[in-house]
Amino acid sequence: MAYKTSTVYNLIICFFITDTVLSDKAATSGNVLILLADDGGFELGAYMNKICQTPNIDALAKRGVVFNNAFTSVSSCSPSRAALLTGTPSHQNGMYGLHRTVHHFNSFDTVTSLPNLLSAHNVTTGIIGKKDVGPAAQYKFDYEQTEENNRVNQVGRNITHIKLLTREFLAKANRDQKPFLLYISFHDPHRCGHTDPQFGPFCERFGSGEEGMGLIPDWHPIYYQWEQVQLPYFIQDTEAARRDIAAQYTTISRLDQGVGLVLQELQSAGHADDTLVIYSSDNGIPFPSGRTNMYDPGLREPLIISSPRPRSRKNEASFAMVSLLDVMPTVLDWFGIPFPQETNDISQTDTAKSLLPILEKEPPYSEDDAVFASQTHHEVTMYYPMRAVRTRRYKLIHNLNFGMPFPIDQDLYDLLNRTASKQPLPWYKTLEQYYYRPQWELYDIRADPAETRNLHGKYMGRTSDKLAPCRRANRVVARRQAGAGARGGGAARALAALAARVGRPLAVRARRRAGARARRRARLPSAAASLAHSAPTRAFILLVLRSHV
Ligand SMILES: *[C@@H]1O[C@H](CO)[C@@H](O)[C@H](O)[C@H]1NC(C)=O
Ligand SMILES: *[C@@H]1O[C@H](CO)[C@@H](O)[C@H](O)[C@H]1NC(C)=O
Ligand SMILES: *[C@@H]1O[C@H](CO)[C@@H](O)[C@H](O)[C@H]1NC(C)=O
Repeated sequence: MAYKTSTVYNLIICFFITDTVLSDKAATSGNVLILLADDGGFELGAYMNKICQTPNIDALAKRGVVFNNAFTSVSSCSPSRAALLTGTPSHQNGMYGLHRTVHHFNSFDTVTSLPNLLSAHNVTTGIIGKKDVGPAAQYKFDYEQTEENNRVNQVGRNITHIKLLTREFLAKANRDQKPFLLYISFHDPHRCGHTDPQFGPFCERFGSGEEGMGLIPDWHPIYYQWEQVQLPYFIQDTEAARRDIAAQYTTISRLDQGVGLVLQELQSAGHADDTLVIYSSDNGIPFPSGRTNMYDPGLREPLIISSPRPRSRKNEASFAMVSLLDVMPTVLDWFGIPFPQETNDISQTDTAKSLLPILEKEPPYSEDDAVFASQTHHEVTMYYPMRAVRTRRYKLIHNLNFGMPFPIDQDLYDLLNRTASKQPLPWYKTLEQYYYRPQWELYDIRADPAETRNLHGKYMGRTSDKLAPCRRANRVVARRQAGAGARGGGAARALAALAARVGRPLAVRARRRAGARARRRARLPSAAASLAHSAPTRAFILLVLRSHV
């Protein structure tokens, strides 16, 4: 459907352009602008935050589709950026943790990234802001203004500077008369208390014009009362945490005004009407249960896409379950370039798909839709491997190394002090629960959105509506076994793909044990048989476990 639509669109455009341009398919499709926040969350008017003022991002949302079920595949900076730029989860592209300094993670040399692929198709590519992925040759933009050749605050937070660089890049793209991908990777609203404490915990004073803070001429900071911030359920209700959120909001005002300036530059360069604009963030906000976690505050992301194509939905919300892994296929679809299956093998994950069709029509709703996540490191010492699958209703997390405490980032503030000194802790968990997690966590997100009641082990072998996903998994396998194919919908296909992979190790064991007779029944049927003979919850869990470890 996406291809049909873009072909029709291309045909119409083709009447108006010259032969030389016609020879290059990319040139007919317009441009892409990706605006990525760093640790940004739902502190946006477009996502119903009533306190934090974000008029520019809200205006973008009015011109596009706001996704309510968008998830990152990994809740850490470099891994999520590498996943975004390659369409593959971190355990497949090799970026298991942070790229910079001593952490030193890199993607595999064989992985193809969006900028490299687009350059090869005559699309001009540019990055302004935080890059934090490597190796350099694997993520090569034609125009690079990043922390590698600048101060990160200048290219990532100084919105006047970002505006001028954007102007420079767009002028170059216009001179070259080529379509472009511009990836603006803001460093806001990332914390900065650990690197530049003089600017405040979220760098909210950097460039504010106060004494010693320097000036960002285009920024009009907005200040908030700590008593009045909108406190998410997963953050402790303490003055220290609320003051942090107030500072985060001020930094978001800089991000939001930066988005406004960049969109203004796009318009001035004559590209407001031929550019797909995507706004999102790399991972959850830097608070407990957020960044580095597989809980929803760590995985859920804002995602706003505005398309200039005439049939595109405007000022609408989508409830489609989507992954940030879908960004690369979306951009490639926009430029009419096929996904590089040979180098970025995603055939088994079934998660990466173009979102362009959703910009025209809401896809059919299915309870089977699912997204997947995998986490290994954040900083190099923060090893805590997790795998997760989230359907609309359920979330299953496998904590592979559950015996050790969860490694905390710089986000626990007064939780430690209050716990140590036995002061009251107005939080939805205890520190002990946060540190020590069970091997399996299964949540009914609809009944328990805060993910506090672990259902794993509670419904074993009993018939209950809680078992619906397991029954569905069984049905999918049965359908596949019956030769009906599994081309149905997102999760049905995904679960079938998982089942197929479960089948392989089982098949090997079956062959060893039972010789020729088992050999005939090996592969898929053996997976189906194992599912049919076990309690559904167990089967569902095993299915996900074996396929995602
Ligand atoms: C890119 O442009 C060059 C020169 O205009 C042309 O020879 C080449 O075929 C184009 N490549 C693609 C992939 O379109
Ligand atoms: C931000 O960038 C502008 C333009 O390059 C510069 O004049 C200004 O001093 C910078 N502000 C800070 C705080 O570095
Ligand atoms: C926690 O306690 C340490 C040591 O007493 C102190 O330095 C720090 O400021 C406290 N932090 C908070 C957020 O209360």
